[in-house]
Amino acid sequence: MHFPTTLIAGALFQSSVIAKTQPAQDVLAPASSYSHLHLTHDLLAFHKNLTQIESISGNEHDVGVWLTESLQSQGYTVEKQSLGGNPPRFNLLAWPGGKRNTRVLLSSHIDTVPPFWPYTHNASTGVIIGRGSVDAKGSVATQVLALNGLLESREVSPDDVGLLFVVGEETGGDGMRAANDLNLKPKSIIFGEPTEGRLCAGHKGNLGAKIIAKGKAAHSGYPWLGRSANEVLVAALGGVMEMVKGLPTSEKYGSTTMNIGRMEGGVAANVVPESASASLAFRLAEGTPETLKPLVVEAVENAVAAFVDKDVKASDVVEIIFTSAGYGPIAIDSDVPGFGKPITVNYGTDIPNLKQTVKGQKRYLYGPGSILVAHSDHEATTEKELFDAVDGYKTLILHAMIKDDAREQLRDARRPDL
Ligand SMILES: *[C@@H]1O[C@H](CO)[C@@H](O)[C@H](O)[C@H]1NC(C)=O
Ligand SMILES: *[C@@H]1O[C@H](CO)[C@@H](O)[C@H](O)[C@H]1NC(C)=O
Ligand SMILES: [Zn+2]
Repeated sequence: MHFPTTLIAGALFQSSVIAKTQPAQDVLAPASSYSHLHLTHDLLAFHKNLTQIESISGNEHDVGVWLTESLQSQGYTVEKQSLGGNPPRFNLLAWPGGKRNTRVLLSSHIDTVPPFWPYTHNASTGVIIGRGSVDAKGSVATQVLALNGLLESREVSPDDVGLLFVVGEETGGDGMRAANDLNLKPKSIIFGEPTEGRLCAGHKGNLGAKIIAKGKAAHSGYPWLGRSANEVLVAALGGVMEMVKGLPTSEKYGSTTMNIGRMEGGVAANVVPESASASLAFRLAEGTPETLKPLVVEAVENAVAAFVDKDVKASDVVEIIFTSAGYGPIAIDSDVPGFGKPITVNYGTDIPNLKQTVKGQKRYLYGPGSILVAHSDHEATTEKELFDAVDGYKTLILHAMIKDDAREQLRDARRPDL
């Protein structure tokens, strides 16, 4: 999961540049042909090995190499999709049988937020601490082990389910956007992010913006000779804060919120400031970026009216840049019994970055661990949460398979020539 900040706005811009270069791909054969005898069932050791490797966004190379080798040794074919970088970062697509394009896809991310916190496991309490232990290596490890379990029990065939693990989720989703070039057509995708073991029925949308105020420097003793960029900015932000309060709320997601994540302005107390800026992150409970953007512009223009006259236009005193394309609230499927009441979350995910390639494609969001500790300095999970998530993913995979079969049978039954 990710919480956009001003840093992420910058990263979004960079990643759109990276995404234009054609991603390189290479396919690595399994160490030996698929047999359930190779599959790993040691959840805690697998999760530990994965979590111990530092993989802050941009530095996913080593964890990618380890996971590739581990999956190959378990009998998976692994395709690496390079996103460049030095050392190179790459997405992994893995499949246990002969079929690359599986009907069910399990997906999560292998990058983490900074800073790195080492892995520790208290065997008497079952508490596991460490950066990524929850977000999202808890999901990656439990997805692999769930699939391994179902392969071994032959409840799914090796051609049914694949794995997609991407880089860069925490910094704008360059990995998942590149994954669109893999041309996958799964009927169901199960995304792994911390949802406290519940199913998530949706998450808020998001939009990033930067307000740049333009002043005119002057001595602070003669402020009428200048124009304070800080005053322009404060007025503009006040206008946007008022506007946000009046936005429609949604029963499912609550209210749209705005975070003023970073402000800069001026040089010294005795100088009328020439420039100031603020970076904003909106969390959309309703509507789309296209409906919100003009409201932001209008609120800012109204709020800076006092600085505008016949010689000075609004655009001379303030500029608004939308730093990401943004998206509206994302509805996620949650029609699976046995998970309690579905939750909604306020964080963003890679779901909007992966284009829906199949009509009626099902998308689920589920994973171990608390959303509240995920980015904190006490990111931690428990043995029980991890074991429960293996069971949860198994239930979801089997549900996706059964629904598929039932749907196909229904469709066949309706065909007049049968
Ligand atoms: C974890 O790493 C250790 C040390 O390299 C290795 O012996 C073990 O087989 C690994 N286990 C799993 C499940 O990845
Ligand atoms: C494990 O946690 C218990 C209870 O908090 C504590 O008393 C014990 O010292 C911990 N063990 C280790 C090895 O950290
Ligand atoms: Zn995450």
